[in-house]
Amino acid sequence: MCGIVAYKGKEGCSDILLSCIKNLEYRGYDSIGMALAADKSNSIEIRKDVGPIDLVDEKLNFTSMQGNKGIAHTRWATTGSVTKENSHPHFSSDQKVYVVHNGIIENYQELRKELTDLGITLNSETDSEVIPQFIAIFVKEGSSLIDAIRKTILKIKGSFAIVGMHEDEEGIFFARKESPLVIGMKETSDGSGEKEFFAASDVPAFLSYTNEVYYIEDNEYGIIKEDIVFRDIIDNKIIKKEIQHINWDIDQAKKGEYAHFMLKEIHEQKNTIVKSIQQPSSLVEEVSDILKNAFGIFFVGCGTSYHAAVSASYVFTHVAKRHVNVTIASEFRNYKDYLTDKTVVVAISQSGETADLIDAIKTAKEKGSKVVSIVNVMGSTITRMSDKNIMMNAGPEICVLSTKSYTSQLAILLLLAHAIVDKEEKAKELIRKAGEEVTKIIDNNFLLLEKIAEKIKEENSMFLIGRDLAYPSALEGALKIKEVSYIHAEGFPGGELKHGTIALIEKGTPCIVLTTEATRDMIISNASEIKVRGGYMIGINSKENEVYDEFIKIGELGHANPIAMIIPIQILAYHLALKRGCNPDKPRNLAKSVTVK
Ligand code: F6R
Repeated sequence: MCGIVAYKGKEGCSDILLSCIKNLEYRGYDSIGMALAADKSNSIEIRKDVGPIDLVDEKLNFTSMQGNKGIAHTRWATTGSVTKENSHPHFSSDQKVYVVHNGIIENYQELRKELTDLGITLNSETDSEVIPQFIAIFVKEGSSLIDAIRKTILKIKGSFAIVGMHEDEEGIFFARKESPLVIGMKETSDGSGEKEFFAASDVPAFLSYTNEVYYIEDNEYGIIKEDIVFRDIIDNKIIKKEIQHINWDIDQAKKGEYAHFMLKEIHEQKNTIVKSIQQPSSLVEEVSDILKNAFGIFFVGCGTSYHAAVSASYVFTHVAKRHVNVTIASEFRNYKDYLTDKTVVVAISQSGETADLIDAIKTAKEKGSKVVSIVNVMGSTITRMSDKNIMMNAGPEICVLSTKSYTSQLAILLLLAHAIVDKEEKAKELIRKAGEEVTKIIDNNFLLLEKIAEKIKEENSMFLIGRDLAYPSALEGALKIKEVSYIHAEGFPGGELKHGTIALIEKGTPCIVLTTEATRDMIISNASEIKVRGGYMIGINSKENEVYDEFIKIGELGHANPIAMIIPIQILAYHLALKRGCNPDKPRNLAKSVTVK
């Protein structure tokens, strides 16, 4: 949800800034903008426009901008439509202060009115513009830059990660509350001991330059000059921070031989599934003890992560014999009366920054409940709010769609369900087999799935059915197809379609049938009900059946079946996107890491 970047260091840094902001395009691609300056000079140049980065760059030629420091932004519009004026960086009317912002300023209407009452003409319709305008006003009134930043931030209600520059001042300033911000640091290679600094919403932005980072916490701000001074917004005290090493490598954040990140990340699952369960045994033991002793367990997440939670609730029922409540994060607050200090909330999130989930965690913490999180991004907000963290070890997921993070979530939850009843080895065996299945499924079915996509690419609507463990896979499969190909798709429990939705089946309506061994007979009879009404049946199963018009064979993996089952649907969704002229890595209206509620 909007990517922000800043850099300070070498001359000619526009290409560094451009490469960093390109790495964040998954956070939004409505518009892009950049501002550059020579530190300690008094001229800032700004270029910005509407459109994806490459197209705007062709027009504006960002790399011809000069300077040794700068800021950049890629936008996922929230307040103010997609126009050049609403693109970032925003600047003050005296054109002294330039800022890029990610987050939502809740009291922006009030603040905009205050500015217009002061006679200021605003350049945009956005909430973000109030930030440079107020900083400039406070500086003009005599405040130092650092004080002006603090005074401005204290006026704001809502969330923000900001980086910016003042034309008359050295350095880059930054601040954060409830939106991600991380600062990278690198000693220059010329042996001078000078440092280069990066700031960004996400680590992959600058991973090709450095993996030494400072995590900025809520209510922290500061200025990067020769070094960084971190301060607390509330008491204004200086904060000491330790630099941390990230062990992601840059190849994980590059497309390599693949045409798209989506395809690369689908293929990576053969390894990521297995890596996800390489957890310290003491951690698995501690978390399973927490779950064993819980009085009330809630699995909470959004979108794909929610589907992983639904899937895991079946495994917890069947294997661990534990009842688990599964809740969409944005609805979690409705259950607050049932939360106590004995409740355990398992928060599931790829990014660790999802605002709805952060809100749910806050609700849980207010009630004294324990929070265990399953997260992919180290150092993210959710990891810092939780009592225990299990990292997914999936490496950076760049495609907006979740693929490899989903199967890692499934694998970790499968491991926990088995660990509770001392059957961890059984889970590990299933997950290892699931990893082996990935390559087989892709190699054996890639072309068949492309053929199927060609046949169904003009359809407006599709259905997916499954029972028991296969039902959440139907939900997740439908989400993948919808978000990347824009074909309307819905997932149902096999028994449910006949209660109304079967009215939508007509000749040729594609229907994916997901089958587990235990539910085979029942789901086949549900599939027959659809077939006799004209449905075009695509079976994903370990056994062929005459009801299927197309058949995708997957190995039988027991409780790990959902891990295998989603792979062919991810591939089908990918082919459908290409055949319908959609870019699989940049689905319309979406952005990764949903940091607004
Ligand atoms: C779907 C997708 C989203 C996310 C959801 C939660 O492909 O990516 O539905 O799963 O926004 O995101 P995280 O897992 O980062 O909390």
